[in-house]
Amino acid sequence: MTHNITLIPGDGIGPEVVEAAVRVVEATGVRVDWDRHDAGAEVYTRYGTTVPDEVFTSLLRNRVGIKGPITTPVGTGFASANVLMRQRLQLYANVRPVKTLPGIQTPFPNVDLIVVRENSEGMYSGLEHQVVPGVVESLKVVTEKGSTRIAQYAFELARRLGRQRVTAVHKANIMKLSDGLFLDCFRKVARQYSDIQADELIIDNTCMQLVMRPERFDVMVMENLYGDIVSDLCAGLIGGLGLTASVNVGESCSLYEAVHGSAPDIAGQNKANPIALIQCAAMMLRDLRETDAADRVEKAVHTVLREGKTLTPDLGGSATTSEITDAIIAAM
Ligand code: NAI
Repeated sequence: MTHNITLIPGDGIGPEVVEAAVRVVEATGVRVDWDRHDAGAEVYTRYGTTVPDEVFTSLLRNRVGIKGPITTPVGTGFASANVLMRQRLQLYANVRPVKTLPGIQTPFPNVDLIVVRENSEGMYSGLEHQVVPGVVESLKVVTEKGSTRIAQYAFELARRLGRQRVTAVHKANIMKLSDGLFLDCFRKVARQYSDIQADELIIDNTCMQLVMRPERFDVMVMENLYGDIVSDLCAGLIGGLGLTASVNVGESCSLYEAVHGSAPDIAGQNKANPIALIQCAAMMLRDLRETDAADRVEKAVHTVLREGKTLTPDLGGSATTSEITDAIIAAM
């Protein structure tokens, strides 16, 4: 069968890494009809919107998409296109698996965890206002519905993948109402999953534990902003942003994207590491039940990393984006 997949190249290094992922998927022999649409900062300058309606229509029709990163201006300018897509499509869970990779030297040989980030509310509500000059308020929205839904997602994921434990990460000692509600919902959901251990950890302690003994973690579930920060930290545990994949999940569709951003410092130089997005493509193939192709992609990535001959600069090598992609395709 042919899979119809929405393809969003994005900004900065996006088009380069997306192109790499497309080449790898096509090399597996899986048949894909790519439904290519632009979104992001460049689209905004042309059309006055970061995500044209046709992008939403395409994602809702195909139910599967893969995207490059999108630039969001810091402090001023338009709101994040990523947040807009996640909220409008109700992509309420962001799943970020982090696993030690062969050939990548880090202080941690046994990392194998999954960050499940609540993706639709929390500090990302976008509700900010100036009370008086010099004083602003930013609203963190936590709902029973959103917290229960993400806790259920984390436990279901743990069960499906044969994982042992789900840890709720929070700051309910200080934010007693908002994080307190998140934690209450987690505890209620946990009672329905007696086959999976549930534990709780305060966010600051979590960060310390992650850089001391990350092997203690299995599935972790947390609010939006905590998940954003903790998943970058976790990417660092296994060798950096160039290696870590993620998927945004909702009832309407699944949208795969790397954890990293548009990396303007290296954009257009054929230097970006495409592995994070290639790992996204492998996740996507697995979810599309193209298991053999997904296995082959992952194995080829591992072979190239283990051999260590064709690595991009972020991994200490001098290979280009195209060269490492060629090496992965050759290894397949
Ligand atoms: P970033 O992730 O783009 O870059 C951080 C550092 O990691 C840079 O030194 C960059 O060169 C390096 N890096 C990132 N990905 C890499 C790759 N694949 N290969 C090699 N090196 C890589 O984060 P930054 O600089 O904070 O954000 C840049 C822009 O990206 C911002 O506008 C931000 O809003 C946006 N962003 C978008 C995301 C998305 O679309 N999902 C996620 C994160 C940030």
